[in-house]
Amino acid sequence: MSLDIEHIRQDFPILKRELRPGVKLVYLDSTATAQKPASVIEAMDSFYRLSNANIHRGVHTLAEESTALYEQAREKIARFINAASPRQVIYTRNTTESLNLVAYTWARANLKPGDLVILTEMEHHSNLVPWHMLAAERGIRLEFIPVAENGLLDLDAYKKLLELGPKLVSFTHMSNVLGTINPAKEIIALAHAAGAVTMLDGAQSVPHFAVDVKALDVDFMAFSAHKMLGPTGIGALYGKTALLEAMPPFLGGGDMIKEVKLRSFRANDLPYKFEAGTPAIAEAVGFGAAVDYLNSVGMDNVAAHEHEITEYALERLEEIPGVKLFGPEAKFKGGVAAFTLDCAHPHDVAQILDGDGVAVRAGHHCAQPLHEKFGIPATSRASFYLYSTKEEVDRLVDGIYKVKKIFS
Ligand code: ALA
Repeated sequence: MSLDIEHIRQDFPILKRELRPGVKLVYLDSTATAQKPASVIEAMDSFYRLSNANIHRGVHTLAEESTALYEQAREKIARFINAASPRQVIYTRNTTESLNLVAYTWARANLKPGDLVILTEMEHHSNLVPWHMLAAERGIRLEFIPVAENGLLDLDAYKKLLELGPKLVSFTHMSNVLGTINPAKEIIALAHAAGAVTMLDGAQSVPHFAVDVKALDVDFMAFSAHKMLGPTGIGALYGKTALLEAMPPFLGGGDMIKEVKLRSFRANDLPYKFEAGTPAIAEAVGFGAAVDYLNSVGMDNVAAHEHEITEYALERLEEIPGVKLFGPEAKFKGGVAAFTLDCAHPHDVAQILDGDGVAVRAGHHCAQPLHEKFGIPATSRASFYLYSTKEEVDRLVDGIYKVKKIFS
């Protein structure tokens, strides 16, 4: 089924914006953050107008209402990723905090000096720096599954690394630069066979195609609301119940306790054990509304549309002399096109495109080691979502020709 994109675009108020008179916004930066449909904005607006109260702390009507909305959103998120129970979905601030939560709690309780953690060369900084910090503090070792020139992980090298007996394999489901969709099920099965725990950075996958934690059999998965049409400031950590129950708490404070004495405390049950302090309640409501919106479109439809746009974009970009694309061919990738242009720096490209209303990101996209691997400091990156159109890709291509003209 092909999506009624014009109908979908009507749901996103920002997409109607003219940046300057006559210059319509072409938003090609959804990998950084997605735009929000009116239903998400209205759910949060309505929460503040009608139901605002703190959760889990009052018996009055508003407190009960806001608690119910907060927990209903968790149930929606759990169903969206096919978690067995909402207790396995911990609200965090974002993917980064979810990954850090595991590094601070599970890893600090389970890893000792010399233990091995396997990552990949295509990780975002949020799945690198927490492990660097743990390596400095605890003396754990890090190894990396190499990325081949074609943008795919070298699974033979991975199998060799597994012979070293890693305790954890933590990797991105989809690269935010190359767009590579990694064979998560296979990577996880191989890790489990080697006795390792697995963690998936789902920041770029959960928003764009159906991700089923049970089918993947993954132990932990991190993702953010803001990349899947929801608000900033909230994300989630999924974990297997036995692992989450055995982990020590993360932040200490209200709500994460069952009982506090002057000199001790008892931690709360899941998921509250990991949710200290007043959480992002309105954002949770918005997160739930974003899941509703994606479900109403259908994740298979979202994925099929993005695939069509990505194929078209790669085809059109490849035609431009001087453009070099990074990442695998379309069949292995999601809606990301990172490129360099021989005559201009990625920042200049992005700036000139912005003059024509085309928003792309330029830089290392929080994946500096990956850029280093390809011998470049930066790329320009166009990224797509369910509201992206071929006409927008054409505007991008026209803009790149304009950059070429200016710089040649
Ligand atoms: N991780 C986000 C990106 O790739 C910020 O743009």
